[in-house]
Amino acid sequence: MNVGLLGAGHIAHALAEGWSRPGVPGAPSLSFFDIDAAKARELAAACGGAAAVTAAALVSAADLVIVAVRPQQVEDVLKSVRAAVGERAVVSVAAGVTLARLQAALPTGARVARVMPNVAAALGQGLFMLVPGTLGEGVAQVEDLFALAGDVVEVEEALFDAATAVAGCMPGIIAHLVAAFAAAGVAHGLAEDVAVQLAISGVYGAAAIIAHEGDPATVLAAAATPGGMTAAAVDVLEERGLALTVDHAVAAAVARAKELA
Ligand SMILES: NC(=O)c1ccc[n+]([C@@H]2O[C@H](COP(=O)([O-])OP(=O)(O)OC[C@H]3O[C@@H](n4cnc5c(N)ncnc54)[C@H](OP(=O)(O)O)[C@@H]3O)[C@@H](O)[C@H]2O)c1
Repeated sequence: MNVGLLGAGHIAHALAEGWSRPGVPGAPSLSFFDIDAAKARELAAACGGAAAVTAAALVSAADLVIVAVRPQQVEDVLKSVRAAVGERAVVSVAAGVTLARLQAALPTGARVARVMPNVAAALGQGLFMLVPGTLGEGVAQVEDLFALAGDVVEVEEALFDAATAVAGCMPGIIAHLVAAFAAAGVAHGLAEDVAVQLAISGVYGAAAIIAHEGDPATVLAAAATPGGMTAAAVDVLEERGLALTVDHAVAAAVARAKELA
C-alpha cells in the first residue's frame, strides 16, 4: 500500500518513523508532500519513500492519503487535491477539524476519517483514536495501517476531543512533568543529567506496572505505604489540587479543539 502524507512536519515524521522501523510486517511505502519541498525530501530520505512535486501528484499515486498539516491549513490543502481524491480514503490527523468540514472541502461522497495520533508512534508505541467516518468497510485498512505503529481505539466523534486531551496530548504533558520532577531533583542536589534520567526511568517503570496491574488505584495502594515517602508526596499533590489542575488542563485542551473547529 502507498500512503501519501500531506504535510511533513512533526506528526508526519513520527508516523513515518513508526511505519518504517526495521521489521514492521507489511510496512507501507510512503510518499510525502510539504509546501516546503525540502522538508518532504528530508523526511523521505530519513524514513525511506518519495517526495512528491505537488500535492495532487502525491494523492494520485497514493492508495490512502493522510492529512498532516495544521488545522488552519486543512481546507486549503484539501481543496488543492479535490480533483485527484476520487475513491481514496482521506484520513485527517488534525485536531479540531470535524468530519463535516473535511467532507465539505472534498467532493460529495468522499471517504474520510479522523485519527488522533501521538508522537509515541515513532517508536511503534502510539495510541490512535479513530473516528471511522465514511470509510465503510475500508476502515479495516486504516486500522491495520495504524496498528503497525501502536494501539488503535475507535471513538465517536463527539468524544474525540476529550479522548485526545487525555491520550493524544499525553506525551507532551508527561514531558512537562518529567522536566518538573527533574528540576525538583536538581533543586535537591542531583546533577541535571542524572535527575532527567531518573525521572524518565521512573515514568517508564510506572507506566509499565500500571499497565500490568490494569488499575492505577492498585499501584497507588501498593506504592504509597502509609506514613512513607510516596504517601507524603501524594498528600502534597492532593493538598495543592492535582486532580483539579489536571481537570482544568484537560478542559483547556478540549476548549482549544473547539476553537480550532
Ligand atoms: N505534533 C503532534 O504531536 C500532533 C499530535 C496529534 C495530531 N497532530 C496534528 O497534526 C497536524 C500537524 O501537526 P504538526 O505538529 O506535525 O505540525 P507542523 O510540524 O507544523 O507540520 C505541518 C507541516 O505542513 C506544512 N504545510 C502547510 N500547508 C501545507 C500545504 N498546503 N500542503 C502541504 N504542506 C503544508 C507546514 O509548512 P509551514 O510550517 O511552512 O506552514 C508544515 O511543514 C495538526 O493538525 C495537529 O493537530 C499533531
